[in-house]
Amino acid sequence: MIGRAHHIGIAVRDLEGTLARYRALGLVPTSVEDVPPESVRVAFLDAGGVRLELLEPLRPEGAVHRFLERRGEGLHHLAFEVEDIVAELARLGEEGFQLVDEGPRPGAHGRSVAFVHPKSLHGVLLELVQEARP
Ligand code: CO
Repeated sequence: MIGRAHHIGIAVRDLEGTLARYRALGLVPTSVEDVPPESVRVAFLDAGGVRLELLEPLRPEGAVHRFLERRGEGLHHLAFEVEDIVAELARLGEEGFQLVDEGPRPGAHGRSVAFVHPKSLHGVLLELVQEARP
């Protein structure tokens, strides 16, 4: 089953410049990390218990770069926590959701993540997140 909301993903062209704007709002990053498999640099901010994930492409390839070319900066995805990402992907596939990822891939902070196509959810790209197990 889908669990708690985990974060809101926002695509940006210039992470440093964007972080300066968020600092002006009073929001500071809790982490900044490159995720090479996704070709992105990722900053997380804690907005009163709601995590924001700012995504900047590292190279002119990858999904976030394509999104920026097509749609420009802005809201990119919603992420929800799951206990068992493999089981949840299988369940959503059976429910008729179009899966971007057939299996989990590595995300920031050692998490496993997988995406569900926005065609399946009325225009919203959905990310499933399974936290790293100690
Ligand atoms: Co995300």
